[in-house]
Amino acid sequence: MQIEWTAGPEEFAARAAAHVVDCLAEIDTPAIALPTGMTPVGLYRQLLALQAEGEVDLGQGYYFNLDEYVGVAQADSHSFATFLGRYFLDASLIPADHIRLLQGDAGDIAAEARAHDAAVAARGGLDLAILGLGGNGHIAFNEPGVAWTDGTHIVPLTDETRAANAAYFEDGFTVPSQGVTMGIGMLRSARRILLMVSGAAKAEALTMLLAGKTDPAWPVTALCGHPDLILVADEALRPA
Ligand code: PGA
Repeated sequence: MQIEWTAGPEEFAARAAAHVVDCLAEIDTPAIALPTGMTPVGLYRQLLALQAEGEVDLGQGYYFNLDEYVGVAQADSHSFATFLGRYFLDASLIPADHIRLLQGDAGDIAAEARAHDAAVAARGGLDLAILGLGGNGHIAFNEPGVAWTDGTHIVPLTDETRAANAAYFEDGFTVPSQGVTMGIGMLRSARRILLMVSGAAKAEALTMLLAGKTDPAWPVTALCGHPDLILVADEALRPA
């Protein structure tokens, strides 16, 4: 694992962005998985700024979202698709046919999950999975105890995650009880993983990862031993 401790939000975003730029420079049309959440917002802003300065052409990549709420349409203001559009995709100039976002309200959600896997497979698998981290150790919507072998699949969301996500919305939106998410098997097979960890709420989960032992109670530890794992994290979280 390559670890980069960062001194503040700007360095955190800049370091993470540098890895995405490297990926786009090194790999012809890379397949990249995108996270939702507050952690990557600075990264997305930085990537858009770098593109405006001519430093990167984001349109070279193919993009897939990691997860979505089951039962929520992409056009719904609460969807992860809307979030990614607002903070990144809408201003990114990435061609629409380079983007595949999960349809949380698909009539056959299992078929939709399989279609997501097939679209990633058609690009040769993920070149880069960008991940945030949940306080309970989740990556994407893979909650504690989930199987570590799956592709995209439907999962129940824990009360902890539903409460954490409800905080994003001021309109009383009830966070669904299920999500659809790229599974850990799929994430582990990404050729490179960029794990972004910011905030005191993530300290315990990060400690578990740094301990280097896999533990099903902490999904992030599934990444232990990945051959190309890059951790970008707050300096404040660095173990003494
Ligand atoms: P956050 O969420 O970036 O909003 O902290 C991360 C996650 O729960 O995966």
